[in-house]
Amino acid sequence: MKRVDDFRLRFGKRELVPIMIGGMGVDISTTDLALEAARLGGVGHISDAMINTVADRRYQTKFVKDKLKQYKFNVENADKAVVKFDLGTVEEATRLHVRSAMDRKQGDGMIFINCMEKLTMNAPKETLKVRLTAALDAGIDGITLAAGLHLGSLALIEDHPRFRDAKIGIIVSSVRALQLFLKKNARLNRMPDYIVVEGPLAGGHLGFGMDWAEYDLATITAEVIAYLREEKLDIPVIPAGGIFTGSDAVGFLETGAAAVQVATRFTVAKECGLPEKVQQEYFKADEDDIEVNQISPTGYPMRMLKNSPAIGSGIRPNCEAYGYLLDANGKCAYITSYNREVALHPDARRVSVMDKTCLCTHMRNFDCWTCGHYTYRLKDTTRQRADGSYQILSAEHIFHDYQFSTDGKIALPEAEAA
Ligand SMILES: Cc1cc2nc3c(=O)[nH]c(=O)nc-3n(C[C@H](O)[C@H](O)[C@H](O)COP(=O)(O)O)c2cc1C
Repeated sequence: MKRVDDFRLRFGKRELVPIMIGGMGVDISTTDLALEAARLGGVGHISDAMINTVADRRYQTKFVKDKLKQYKFNVENADKAVVKFDLGTVEEATRLHVRSAMDRKQGDGMIFINCMEKLTMNAPKETLKVRLTAALDAGIDGITLAAGLHLGSLALIEDHPRFRDAKIGIIVSSVRALQLFLKKNARLNRMPDYIVVEGPLAGGHLGFGMDWAEYDLATITAEVIAYLREEKLDIPVIPAGGIFTGSDAVGFLETGAAAVQVATRFTVAKECGLPEKVQQEYFKADEDDIEVNQISPTGYPMRMLKNSPAIGSGIRPNCEAYGYLLDANGKCAYITSYNREVALHPDARRVSVMDKTCLCTHMRNFDCWTCGHYTYRLKDTTRQRADGSYQILSAEHIFHDYQFSTDGKIALPEAEAA
């Protein structure tokens, strides 16, 4: 019986443990979590979601306060088109975040950054270019282009000196998306270094419609592998979404995957950014406490716990401080929904907005409890304390469980001292 450790992810001559911890914004996949993955010989991700906000929290900058001060005059205005990011702050925040990870990196693994292209920041191309460039400048090992994969992203950094040396990967949920990306980027003569195939059981936003349940990761992964073979392209394929045990991972590695990307198991690690109170909600969840809904203003379905405070919350849009989802015209679907409810209930002190949520504010405050499908199995990965709460795990424990377990088993952590 094989275990994950019998396989290696190969990037050229470099060999890694084939476990990649996926990016989890906003700062849920923290630097500390990514550092553990790298120390243990795998790949960890930091995320650049709401990067200015994360920098303020971690590196004592004041980007959000300054932005709010600059645009305070617009807070009551329904139109947010004037609210722009200062590109210099985005660059500085990204550099600070990437440097803090790369300076502390130990071990043979790598640290990548997850860049969701749906964070359009009221100037999609300009802000994305700055985010990608600053991450490369600051020495990131690799970039994973995620949510909303923009076919023109690679071209934004084609002149960067590290364009061909840093690893660049993409996340797709279908062969079709991969084909489009490769076609569009053929002129650059630069293939992605890895392809994450994300299936419908993943956490965060899904690359499927509300018919997600009709798809399955194994089938899509097999299709992607077959397509690459046909095209004689040797690119590592990394399935993600619902790979819960080492044995699940081995199943993919034995059928041609180069590594696996996992996330949900690590949401209950002490290095993860979620506050312990929220981690306990993840542990407690049963299968029917989890839903895929359409409240994300990005337009993508998103999986989350049904008791997330973000659901139904009718807070005033906070774009003057955040504004990461404003599109090129300064619009966000939450603003439209919020304004509609305010118009319908002019006398209400507080409205409720059911169809969309202010994702920036709620992700920033850890009030949107996005999670993978198998979150309801997390309680089986740890011990329950005498008071009914669950023991938080170390990232090392979870990583090693994936790496060494067999027979679908999950190793429980040592019992903590009472
Ligand atoms: C809490 C959480 C947040 C996530 N946030 C992001 C994100 O910001 N960007 C992204 O590309 N994927 C995100 N994902 C998806 C993961 O990176 C990963 O591909 C997927 O969840 C793997 O499946 P698993 O959670 O079943 O192991 C998130 C997943 C979780 C659980």
